[in-house]
Amino acid sequence: MAASAKTLTIADRTLNGGWTVVLPRRGRRKHLPRIRSLEQQPWAPSDLETDPIRKSKLLHKMQICMNKIESSSFYHTLMDQIQTPEILGHFYRVLDSESKMQMVIYGIGSIESYETPRLQLSLAILLKKKFCWIGDIEVFDPILSATESQVLEALGCSVISVNEQGQRRAQKPTLFFMPHCEAELYDNLLRANWGVELLNRVVLFGNSFETYEQHVSEFKNSVVVDSARHVLGIRRFTKEFRIKTVSDDYFGAFHDSSWHFFCPVLETELQQYI
Ligand SMILES: C[S@@+](CC[C@H](N)C(=O)[O-])C[C@H]1O[C@@H](n2cnc3c(N)ncnc32)[C@H](O)[C@@H]1O
Repeated sequence: MAASAKTLTIADRTLNGGWTVVLPRRGRRKHLPRIRSLEQQPWAPSDLETDPIRKSKLLHKMQICMNKIESSSFYHTLMDQIQTPEILGHFYRVLDSESKMQMVIYGIGSIESYETPRLQLSLAILLKKKFCWIGDIEVFDPILSATESQVLEALGCSVISVNEQGQRRAQKPTLFFMPHCEAELYDNLLRANWGVELLNRVVLFGNSFETYEQHVSEFKNSVVVDSARHVLGIRRFTKEFRIKTVSDDYFGAFHDSSWHFFCPVLETELQQYI
């Protein structure tokens, strides 16, 4: 995972199971934009040309990836977990009287350059295929190329043409699929939805908030405290369920990822914790 040198973005597990701050790995990733401005700007891929050969190669890779996941014990374990009465109950509570929960994917990364984003996108698409109550999928990452955007459309997703800075308000039930995003992006999302009704319409798949909290209490990391005030503040109103990566094949893409459901009851309680 890539991160800014100054900001802890995600915690990464070392081989001995400890936590480390992830620093940029020179040459391994495209430049990752920092989330500074909260202004929402129209967006289009910076490369305007698409290449049909690259597009068909990428579509083929995505198909292989989806097949691989669908037949894995990682996927079956995850499906079993989602269908436990407790987790399914939370999904249905968020759905309330609606029949569909839209999915918004932020921060997927470059699906052409790396397998990790391909695995993450494959899982999102398979979730929609499996559960009839998952609705349309919208995707945004400022690093998406024109070819990647076309492939996403070919896979049935729509690419958002505005950089929302993670601030979509859940006017209807929404599953935010944000695998291994920066803490600031989760924080932007929570801040934009900081109200009882809105938070109760959000499901968030992303880095474990429990881990962020542990990191803060163990290392007194003030950078995390500053960039993740809402992430830390929402903890007491959160039901979190960690997912199991099951095998090394899925560790890189899904380690320390959780389902998060938010159940605040009173506005006054919420206001106390930010
Ligand atoms: C740490 S990377 C994770 C990428 C990928 N999910 C992975 O696990 O390898 C965070 C991603 O968030 C994206 N990002 C940055 N600002 C964003 C924004 N405003 N909206 C959506 N994604 C954003 C970055 O471009 C980057 O691809």
